[in-house]
Amino acid sequence: MILRGTMRRNEKGHLEIGGCDAVELTRRFGPPLYVLDEEDVRARCRASRAAMAEYAPGGMVTYAGKALLCTAMCRLMDEEGLGLDVVSGGELYTALSADFPAERLIFHGNNKSPAELEAALRAGVGLIVVDNEVELAILIELARAMAKRPRILLRLTPGVEAHTHHYIRTGQQDSKFGLDIQNGQARRAVRQVLAAETLALVGFHCHIGSQILDLEGFVLAARIMMDFALAMREEYGFVAEIIDLGGGLGIRYTAADQPPSIDDYMRAIAGVIATVAEGADYPRPRLIVEPGRSIVGEAGVTLYTVGTSKEVSGIRRYVAVDGGMAANPRVALYQAVYEATLAERAGEEGRDVVTIAGKCCESGDILIWDAPLPTPKFGEILAVFSTGAYNYSMASNYNRLPRPALVSCYRGEADLFVARETYPDLLRQDRFPSRLRRVTAAAAGIN
Ligand code: LLP
Repeated sequence: MILRGTMRRNEKGHLEIGGCDAVELTRRFGPPLYVLDEEDVRARCRASRAAMAEYAPGGMVTYAGKALLCTAMCRLMDEEGLGLDVVSGGELYTALSADFPAERLIFHGNNKSPAELEAALRAGVGLIVVDNEVELAILIELARAMAKRPRILLRLTPGVEAHTHHYIRTGQQDSKFGLDIQNGQARRAVRQVLAAETLALVGFHCHIGSQILDLEGFVLAARIMMDFALAMREEYGFVAEIIDLGGGLGIRYTAADQPPSIDDYMRAIAGVIATVAEGADYPRPRLIVEPGRSIVGEAGVTLYTVGTSKEVSGIRRYVAVDGGMAANPRVALYQAVYEATLAERAGEEGRDVVTIAGKCCESGDILIWDAPLPTPKFGEILAVFSTGAYNYSMASNYNRLPRPALVSCYRGEADLFVARETYPDLLRQDRFPSRLRRVTAAAAGIN
């Protein structure tokens, strides 16, 4: 068992997160439960900012909200001095509702609607990352109509194949994201923006993928972005103030994952930018990075209760928990591999091999295939590690399962970031057309 952040095995032999006993947390808030180690999140924010200050002074670390976003997370990121990357009207609304300073927001997305762009312009977000030619045309007009002049980055596809699952790989040429450097699309967009009075081009953005465990792809992307910037100076006399290399730094899901440290990552990419800039007598652009997973991933644990089990003799033993692909779709989607422990006997060596299944009506609803664990007993609590990123944010109500609560543990205090959904929450948006209304149901308040 790898203990991440502040996690430890306490005197009772229970798993403890942020000074809170996981068994008591489950009793108090009910299972399944997303738990966040707030000290660890804060430490990762600080380490990222410190590395930025050391290797790329003047740069900005911007948390990618898609990994885990709610209003309390926005406050936390604000307190830690990070920027925030939002990718939809809903994320923008969440950030603004939490009073996150608009000037530290970066607005992303490959198909922002005119209404979303208008909301971003009204709020005065710090940067809009323009993804494609259609969006560029819409934004030029919208800014004119609203008498605004937003600062924008152009999202480029550097043509880098990141070594990760193909669903979360985005920097390669054949991608739905960004303006292609190789076929001249990016160059044309630069010319168009420079000619448009209503937009202020300040630099370039790329994001090559996610859960990347070696630095090679990042270094290559940084190099390609700088080469493009130099070419644009050559061609149009444009000098980029900002280079944004997106997110993507991988984390440890299992002991087999060996991600680079945030320090090594920052040193490597900042080094490329500095070296290329110096060699070409180019004013060193400010670096932006957008880590999501590496800020919250390892700081999250999900607590489930063990329920039924089934032995398929000679093949495997299934043990089911009270959550599943609705609370964590990553196994079904990306064949993600997780590690777990039993919260009441944390770290007890696994004598058996069990497959942890969810409770959704699908054979593919498995949380961990062949986990080395002592055979879990009915009612025990199972803690699955490294679930801070892309679990709550990707959760659904499949099978009408209410989404679990999200609790943040900090120095022995546990506080709700998001309350558990209730059955009435599941009905909140349901409507009956008049032909299906019933008088008796109206009396019960569900009409
Ligand atoms: N910036 C941009 C423009 C992005 O598209 C992303 C992630 C990030 C930053 C943050 O990347 P991170 O540091 O978290 O790797 N649902 C998938 C991951 C999708 C990532 C999408 N974009 C998963 O569960 O693995």
